[in-house]
Amino acid sequence: MHKWMLKWNLPTLLSRLYLHIIFLVGSMCLACSDRTPEQLAAIMNCSKHERHTRNYDYMEGGDVRIRQLFSATQWFLTIDDYGNISGTQDPTNCYSILEIRTVSEGGVLAIKGVKSQYYISMNKTGVLQGKKTYNENCNFKEEFLENFFNAYSSAKWTKQNGKEMFIALSQKGRPLKGRKTRKESISSHFIPMYCREEEKRTD
Ligand SMILES: *[C@@H]1O[C@H](CO)[C@@H](O)[C@H](O)[C@H]1NC(C)=O
Ligand SMILES: *[C@@H]1O[C@H](CO)[C@@H](O)[C@H](O)[C@H]1NC(C)=O
Ligand SMILES: *[C@@H]1O[C@H](CO)[C@@H](O)[C@H](O)[C@H]1NC(C)=O
Repeated sequence: MHKWMLKWNLPTLLSRLYLHIIFLVGSMCLACSDRTPEQLAAIMNCSKHERHTRNYDYMEGGDVRIRQLFSATQWFLTIDDYGNISGTQDPTNCYSILEIRTVSEGGVLAIKGVKSQYYISMNKTGVLQGKKTYNENCNFKEEFLENFFNAYSSAKWTKQNGKEMFIALSQKGRPLKGRKTRKESISSHFIPMYCREEEKRTD
């Protein structure tokens, strides 16, 4: 078991937080399968007119998943038409539908907003931004945590001490600078949520 998991479980206060998260995951899974037809229609509608702009030439053949990333701080990650990254609490917000494509082995992937067509990118100083053109800054390593969440760290850049910099949304749904993120922090924990209708569409 990782050292940080042990640390997390020890103090009473923190373990209560942990239980709260387990509860949250449970209720989110229900919410996920219980989407209303209106919500599904809105999600389906999100990407339809953008289809012709999809361009996979640079990494043909990779595995593509359409997901929403729901943070442990209870926000859906969005990339808007200005390339700004933030969080929304509206599960039908089109900017929260993401295309997650495997770039290489070892869980390296690129995350693109289906509607805005911006890739999530992190630069050397840990700033998260949307980029229209894919480059190495858009590569993130997906890590499965032991609490059912995933973490996404820059595959290119680390902090000065060599530690990973993560995609993270604060309690207020704002993106955090990579240098301020830690694997232990719930702001870097996300559940990839399945959009059933979207999955059919990509076949
Ligand atoms: C689908 O998108 C169009 C144009 O953006 C919008 O007018 C319409 O209300 C949307 N339909 C649903 C079900 O969200
Ligand atoms: C995008 O984010 C930048 C930096 O936070 C901000 O200055 C700008 O106003 C934002 N643009 C929009 C349209 O939200
Ligand atoms: C990273 O992006 C931010 C925001 O655009 C910019 O201010 C900063 O200079 C960039 N850092 C590097 C090393 O490119």
